[in-house]
Amino acid sequence: MRILVTGGTGFVGSHVVVALIEAGHEPVIVDNLSNSKLSVIDGIESITGFRPPFFHLDVGDQLALRDAIGEGVDGVVHLAAWKAVGESVAKPLRYYGNNVGATVRMLEVLSEVGVRNLVFSSSATVYGEPQELPLREDMATGRATNPYGWTKIMMEQVMADLAFSDPSWSMTFLRYFNPVGAHESGRIGEAPHGEPTNLMPYVSQVAAEIRPSLPVFGTDYPTRDGTPIRDYVHVMDVAEGHARAIGALSGEIGTHIYNLGTGRGTTVLELVSEFESTNQVSVPWQGHARRPGDVAETWAAVERAERDLDWRAKRDLSDMCRDAWHWQRSGLAASRSDQH
Ligand code: UD1
Repeated sequence: MRILVTGGTGFVGSHVVVALIEAGHEPVIVDNLSNSKLSVIDGIESITGFRPPFFHLDVGDQLALRDAIGEGVDGVVHLAAWKAVGESVAKPLRYYGNNVGATVRMLEVLSEVGVRNLVFSSSATVYGEPQELPLREDMATGRATNPYGWTKIMMEQVMADLAFSDPSWSMTFLRYFNPVGAHESGRIGEAPHGEPTNLMPYVSQVAAEIRPSLPVFGTDYPTRDGTPIRDYVHVMDVAEGHARAIGALSGEIGTHIYNLGTGRGTTVLELVSEFESTNQVSVPWQGHARRPGDVAETWAAVERAERDLDWRAKRDLSDMCRDAWHWQRSGLAASRSDQH
């Protein structure tokens, strides 16, 4: 199938493009490069031997998007969005405009040209503060702790309403837990600008001696070692989940929701220790105050994706740490010169 991938040069998007090519699909990338680089496409080509067509555009630009769709596509994987929690608190209108506004304009174009098959990059953030664990897809959403999280809830709502209004739609929401790691080739990965906000890139930069130590945000949580528990999942497993969803559900009308996680929880200090032993490096850390909006623990119920998509995460925490470090040492990940 010919699949439009919005945000296809981003961290998760670039791995999704690789997984789609490996599953025999033909991806077409659109991205405004606001948080990624064109050179990512060289990485995709060197891994797969295929250079996907690329359109430099904003998904909210309806004329440009129509051009990129051209003769038509069989489906869309929609990942284009901003995802920095702190920035979303400081600049909420930019987040609602860029994430929700642009998505509405994109959906208008898809409706007009007759594309009715969409896989959406959602997040476990839609569950808010967990009332019960593991988090299941049928649990209530709508208690996000920041504007970024609200944009994911709102985008899901817009898409669910559209699918309800026109039953020819097939809509799939993939709620990622904590995607980390990189393609095992070390040719694509996560390249944050400046100081990383997420854990794994920060750990990698400390191991590479770009930063002196890891700030551990909170050591007094009610968990086994006092640090928060998350469900870290290898980004290539997440990417393969998209290929499964596009393949399995393209004919299945209605709205479908799946968690993408491993079903296992890991504390911050367990991740640090796994990174050190897998890669034989040292990651000094320092305890800091809790980060506002963080929850003590989240992990996924994974049975639904196993049942319907025949998907389960295959890679373990050691694989995630090894591939994150391989990518960090490739010279393509963020370096000191990216700091600002
Ligand atoms: C966050 C967002 C989530 C978003 C995801 C991807 C929240 C509450 N979380 O997930 O919505 O989808 O990023 O961008 O909105 N940590 C440290 N030191 C660091 C960095 C992180 O101790 O320097 C800890 C955090 O406190 C947390 C864990 O590491 O316990 C994971 O943090 P992070 O990688 O930022 O992911 P989340 O906060 O789970």
